[in-house]
Amino acid sequence: MICPITPTRILLVGYPVIKLGILVSGRGSNMVAIHRAIANGQLQATISVVISNNPQAPAVGYAQKNTIPVVVLSPRDGESRKAHEAAMVQILQTHGVDWVILAGYMALLRYSMLEAFAGRMINIHPSLLPSFKGLNAQQQALDYGVKIAGCTVHYVTSDMDSGPIIAQAAVPVLDTDTVTTLSERILAEEHRLLPQVIQGLQVLNTLDTTDMIKKQ
Ligand code: GRF
Repeated sequence: MICPITPTRILLVGYPVIKLGILVSGRGSNMVAIHRAIANGQLQATISVVISNNPQAPAVGYAQKNTIPVVVLSPRDGESRKAHEAAMVQILQTHGVDWVILAGYMALLRYSMLEAFAGRMINIHPSLLPSFKGLNAQQQALDYGVKIAGCTVHYVTSDMDSGPIIAQAAVPVLDTDTVTTLSERILAEEHRLLPQVIQGLQVLNTLDTTDMIKKQ
């Protein structure tokens, strides 16, 4: 049953609490937004594990301070991407993860992660996809001269920033914007949108993305 409380807040009754695995590489402000939304009751979920491919990521320190299970898994020299992804799958499955959230995870997933979590893995990207995929999306938006920018939450498939779109939020681009001011405006929307989307995941059907995964 879904009980609407306000137009932007949905309380799910009779659904198990969703278990999240969050992948990060850096600052981790989206991970923090998820953690805060859980703490203040806006999001019925639990962060089962955080995996970082960067030992120096501030996200790792935040997780440790807040007693969120965190694993640093940086690809070892000579380790294949396949083996690295298999290790990630094992950690996520050991922690009973239902959905995987890419929150500033700066690496492409191509192998067993796509199979193990097909249709149960989402990413947040700081542009209105399909425009401005890849790195420096906010700079790309400024360079192009668009008047509206924003962020997108989408399913993860083999192609970068290309899976089916779940939700988007738009912000104006001002004539005075720098990459810093535009990024801040978009980030505020990311922090609002991502927890909202996650809250809806329990009632959103797992999407069959198998035909969107290229066999490697
Ligand atoms: C965000 O802008 C997100 O959209 C992109 O990477 C950035 C991560 O920021 N994928 P943070 O690590 O969550 O602060």
